[in-house]
Amino acid sequence: MTTISNTKPHVLVVGGAGYIGSHMCKYLAGHDYMPVVLDNLVYGHRQAVRWGPFYNGSMENKELLAHIFNRHEITAVMHFAAYCYVGESVTEPSKYYRNNVSNTAILLDAMVENNVENFIFSSSCATYGEPNEIPITENHSQYPVNPYGRTKLMVEQMLNDFQNAYGLKYICLRYFNAAGADPQCEIGEDHRPETHLIPLVLQAAMGKRAAISVFGNDYPTPDGTCIRDYIHVYDLAQAHLLALEKLLNDHLSDCYNLGNGEGHSVKEVIHQARKITGKSIPVRISDRRKGDPAVLIGSSRKAMEALGWRPEFADLKIIIETAWKWHTNHPEGYR
Ligand code: UFG
Repeated sequence: MTTISNTKPHVLVVGGAGYIGSHMCKYLAGHDYMPVVLDNLVYGHRQAVRWGPFYNGSMENKELLAHIFNRHEITAVMHFAAYCYVGESVTEPSKYYRNNVSNTAILLDAMVENNVENFIFSSSCATYGEPNEIPITENHSQYPVNPYGRTKLMVEQMLNDFQNAYGLKYICLRYFNAAGADPQCEIGEDHRPETHLIPLVLQAAMGKRAAISVFGNDYPTPDGTCIRDYIHVYDLAQAHLLALEKLLNDHLSDCYNLGNGEGHSVKEVIHQARKITGKSIPVRISDRRKGDPAVLIGSSRKAMEALGWRPEFADLKIIIETAWKWHTNHPEGYR
């Protein structure tokens, strides 16, 4: 079999047809890398794969992984293929442990067998659980409060063991709340079902849902609604590339938070969305959602200092504007 390699380093993007993975592929392609996508299209969209070869399949398919590693000279693997619905992880934990943990172990085994040693992992602030202090730094204790967060923490721990035993090198990126869309509007967020605040608020603005439910207005925050640290999906992509280049240069495994260090309440998000869209956006106050911490804000000082990460779209206004542009241009998402 011939190995495909050209002057551009090939990066295997597992979950590259999904929301964050597809933005990563566009960013890689714009920075002289070749994204090679592996995605089973359970949640991803074929139309979001535009910047490199596509393999339709799952990371549990060892033969397919071996085929990809034989065919392409893979410099590194980026893993975006986890299931990510916190609520569903509580009701269907088996699905989460199987995909997010067991299947990731298969992917890592295939890397070891094929001598691919650089791995960038989409971890989450959900690994910290209920915070003891804000902003959350990387040294904060990790006691996740739901199965989703536990699966992410298990993979972090597994990576450390794989490093010690097999020499695998990794960087874990613990995202806060990913949001926004490609400023050129080629790709965007299309989760089915959608559970995230910003796209739901924008669907309400478009009249696609009657109102946005605010999950609790009696939290110990200034306006009573939960506060989150929203981070633009392109700024996440920038951080991944910086992390990859640091890993290739230094060969040192590490973990970094990715957030803007600034919190916005649910009411603030709705207020900002009303200003941007010019729509009224009806609100319904609902019960608290189980497992929602009142405030999650991250310190990303480490990523800024060690990786030179400089978020370009940190302003909530820009995050919502780019998302709005995507939603109004693609009212039915990718379909
Ligand atoms: N919210 C509402 N109404 C909605 C949806 C959300 O009020 O219809 C609130 C939530 O209660 C929360 C905030 O808006 O306070 C943000 O909720 P999201 O569901 O958009 O995001 P989460 O903070 O729950 O979850 C996100 C990611 C997870 C990740 C988690 C880490 O989706 O993958 O951040 O906390 F694990």
